Amino acid sequence: MTYRIAPSILSADFARLGEEVRHVIAAGADWIHFDVMDNHYVPNLTFGPMICSALKPHAVTASGQSVPIDVHLMVQPVDALAASFAKAGADLISFHPDATGHVHRSVQAIRAAGCKAGLSFNPAEPLDVLDWVIEDIDLILIMSVNPGFGGQSFIDSALRKIEQARKRIEASGKDIRLEVDGGIKSDNIARVASAGADTFVAGSAIFGQPDYRAVIDAMRRQLAGA
Ligand code: DX5
Ligand code: ZN
Repeated sequence: MTYRIAPSILSADFARLGEEVRHVIAAGADWIHFDVMDNHYVPNLTFGPMICSALKPHAVTASGQSVPIDVHLMVQPVDALAASFAKAGADLISFHPDATGHVHRSVQAIRAAGCKAGLSFNPAEPLDVLDWVIEDIDLILIMSVNPGFGGQSFIDSALRKIEQARKRIEASGKDIRLEVDGGIKSDNIARVASAGADTFVAGSAIFGQPDYRAVIDAMRRQLAGA
């Protein structure tokens, strides 16, 4: 299993975002998780496509290899902003199925714009829509907190949902990443991996500590034992 760690810049220092992105990549980040909130779908407001394009040149390793920008849209409606993020340099774009009128159309539009498409599921939301679109997506994003804020506690029922999502991915035979978002720390990441996740968003756990590398290394040690 190739595990990926996707630091959420929601908990970074917004006054120094470019530097924070470079710093967390130097510390071993695999993806940069970019949380877009609209004060409508969720009760908070963050950043849009202009910030994404400003950060794009910073999303590279020291040797110049580009690091994927993983855009998590917590917005309603989805399509116009998804198109703007595709132009702004997003590599993956996930949205919440209940935030769009036509899930299949939104997925197709993201892929047609050259990005990988993901579906994100809130803690109380079933996975049923996957019956109809799993063939068309690249990523499933399981929310283990209610979307809107960093620093919340992991909701344990997400573990059962991760298990269900992993079964669906196996049954599909497709190469789909299973990402978990919310309350991930080095002391629960192994449990989340054992349930079937392969990609881990972590915001406050990483940016809340002075030494990003120490946190990411501790997470990888836990994953190695999972
Ligand atoms: C919450 C966001 C998360 C958030 C996670 O709506 O989707 O990505 O940044 O933050 P932590 O890791 O602090 O729970
Ligand atoms: Zn997120």
